Amino acid sequence: MINMILLGPPGAGKGTQAELLVDRYHLPHISTGDIFRAAVKEGSPLGQKAKAFLDAGKLVPDDIVVGIVKERLNQPDCQEGFILDGFPRTIPQAEMLDRYLAGADRQITAVINIDVDFEVLIRRLTGRRVCRNCQAVYHIVNKPSQKSGVCDHCGGEIYQRQDDAEETVRKRLEVYRDQTAPLIAYYRERGKLKTFNGEEPIQVVFDQICLALEEQNG
Ligand code: AP5
Repeated sequence: MINMILLGPPGAGKGTQAELLVDRYHLPHISTGDIFRAAVKEGSPLGQKAKAFLDAGKLVPDDIVVGIVKERLNQPDCQEGFILDGFPRTIPQAEMLDRYLAGADRQITAVINIDVDFEVLIRRLTGRRVCRNCQAVYHIVNKPSQKSGVCDHCGGEIYQRQDDAEETVRKRLEVYRDQTAPLIAYYRERGKLKTFNGEEPIQVVFDQICLALEEQNG
């Protein structure tokens, strides 16, 4: 069973690797960022609460995020494993997740930590483009779509996220350093952490993650 967390700063490649991991392992991909962006697009009550935090590059409050993730993990498709992307992002979120899973006799099996230098991240995020329809991730230099502005997977429109403006990117990196990076020690102490150099090409990072998961699962 693979109950995985993808950990790393904004732009480290969590969403990119999640897409590849879903194809390989057929696990549900739970991205809290995608959930919030979909809620903002719909204009739902959750979206109205989350919008200001996303636009400012700040974290949505823990109680809101944890409620959503618990509800998602309760769904039948998550009982045989899952990929959490962008959650947890604070120590209280990690503690709440551990308690919730322990209550269901489950646990996190691997924390994939993707490490990338902040200057590289700024270049990546300001060049990132995303499909408005299926959320596939592109980069204007590193991973362009075959036809400009059109998603290779579904033909949807490719756009730039509002929080990928340089000033907001710098704020998100600061928030990561202060509130999320302490999770590296949290999961290392619990023997769950596996760190990967996210500056390697996408396929190399993916192969290394798969190798580590396969070694772990025998
Ligand atoms: P979220 O959507 O989770 O954003 P993030 O963590 O900032 O991560 P990103 O999606 O920006 O980056 P990524 O690591 O997935 O990189 P990607 O694969 O796209 O969260 C957004 C907001 O929602 C937060 O700011 C917060 O407000 C809120 N939120 C979400 N979760 C929350 C939580 N738990 N608690 C509170 N608030 C929460 O790759 C980036 C680019 O690099 C792409 O263009 C890609 O093609 C390229 N790339 C990827 N890998 C490589 C590589 N190896 N080499 C070269 N280029 C690469």
